Amino acid sequence: QQFVVIVPAAGVGKRMQANCPKQYLRINNKTILSHTVMRLLSHPLITQVIIALSENDEYFSESDLADHKDIIRVKGGAERVDSVLSGLQAVDGQKYPWVLVHDAARPCVSHQDIDKLINECQKNDCGGILATAVRDTMKRGIATAGGMCTIENTVDREQLWHALTPQLYKTEELTHAIEQAMALGLPITDEASAMEHAHHKSLIVVGSSENIKITHPNDLALAEFYLNKQRAR
Ligand code: CTP
Ligand code: MG
Repeated sequence: QQFVVIVPAAGVGKRMQANCPKQYLRINNKTILSHTVMRLLSHPLITQVIIALSENDEYFSESDLADHKDIIRVKGGAERVDSVLSGLQAVDGQKYPWVLVHDAARPCVSHQDIDKLINECQKNDCGGILATAVRDTMKRGIATAGGMCTIENTVDREQLWHALTPQLYKTEELTHAIEQAMALGLPITDEASAMEHAHHKSLIVVGSSENIKITHPNDLALAEFYLNKQRAR
């Protein structure tokens, strides 16, 4: 069996505050997007990557990925879910009954975690996501008038997970779930949230905490540390 991965890469990286979209920042002289995509394509079961790019993207066509035979580009949209749906519309559902979705900003994902996700989902014949356990005591806070926040209560940590990517679903089910949720105007921040609305089962598969999403300026050095460590392994 072969897998296709949709890589949403049409964001602006506002929180990163860099002078280009964060997926084009470089680590060891290679863009984050290139680290991510080459790692996916080097997995033995992954034979195609579909990258959703911003309409205004001025970097990709100049990049090392531009002429890769296993990469398809599609136009992304205003929200991440628009970019993912655009990618789904380019998937050959006959060839790829299952689809992975993976953030461009997560270059440190391991083949081991991808294998674990695929194996668990196929064993249970359902979709699923990589996730990590919450470490800290979790509080629900309420904003007060003065711009302060006070604690309402403590939330049971055992029930909370950090949702990572990749997320793996049946191509047809995910497409329908996203279309349906969008039509109802429901918030969709990851693939699992669309599947939750459609009452499809999703597995939590515990992954490595090294699979960070590069979000804030500090994350760049951390990702570099993990990538170098993984290369040395
Ligand atoms: N993404 C996308 N299309 C959008 C918004 C986001 O394809 N309209 C992609 C990003 O490029 C990123 C992934 O979705 O790879 C996860 O989103 P996030 O980390 O939030 O990236 P940005 O939206 O670019 O960052 P920010 O929210 O700080 O602006
Ligand atoms: Mg965003």
